[in-house]
Amino acid sequence: MGQEVERARTAVAKAKENKRVAVVSSGDPGVYGMAGVVLEVAAHEKATVSVDIIPGVTAATAAAAVLGAPLVGDFAVVSLSDLLTPWKLIEERLNAAAKADFVIVLYNPQSQGRKEPLASAHQILLKYRSPDTPVGIVRAVGRDDEKVVITTLGNLLDHEIDMATTIVVGNSATRVINEKMVTPRGYDLLKN
Ligand SMILES: C[S@@+](CC[C@H](N)C(=O)[O-])C[C@H]1O[C@@H](n2cnc3c(N)ncnc32)[C@H](O)[C@@H]1O
Repeated sequence: MGQEVERARTAVAKAKENKRVAVVSSGDPGVYGMAGVVLEVAAHEKATVSVDIIPGVTAATAAAAVLGAPLVGDFAVVSLSDLLTPWKLIEERLNAAAKADFVIVLYNPQSQGRKEPLASAHQILLKYRSPDTPVGIVRAVGRDDEKVVITTLGNLLDHEIDMATTIVVGNSATRVINEKMVTPRGYDLLKN
């Protein structure tokens, strides 16, 4: 983190020397990853290098798979990092997504020294959603130390959350069914 532009510049410089270069980015490189900065640097340097972007599994869908099926309908993804995006804009996006009843996936939720964004996001979400709304907290998905918790919006801040965590906040239809977080698709199966 913090070295992205430098990494992209190095990659583009090597590619201009006709070297084949791979820039490695976790999850999907096009989701808060290196794909955008590599394309921007190449354009900025007017480099005529060809760039192939190989899709990966992003934390949102990896987390959804271990939680159950919370993302089978419309959902929104919001990063709580205000390093590159002004906090006011993040707040506007959170308000809009919460008001529109999207399931919301939160990336970059909080670090040791950065607790306010998640606390503020929590307050915004509670303006539109019941404290009983199911919430999934997934840390280090796919790794040996993976941790999965299904809780409620009201209790979200009682859990350990760090920068290796992705949070999935259900919408008004999301339920916990057999210990899995599910947003019903609309088939009405559970009414009978
Ligand atoms: C800069 S973003 C990179 C996202 C990555 N490109 C992707 O597609 O998953 C970093 C954030 O992604 C999420 N994340 C990345 N890897 C994760 C993992 N293994 N388990 C849970 N969340 C993860 C966390 O919210 C973390 O703060």
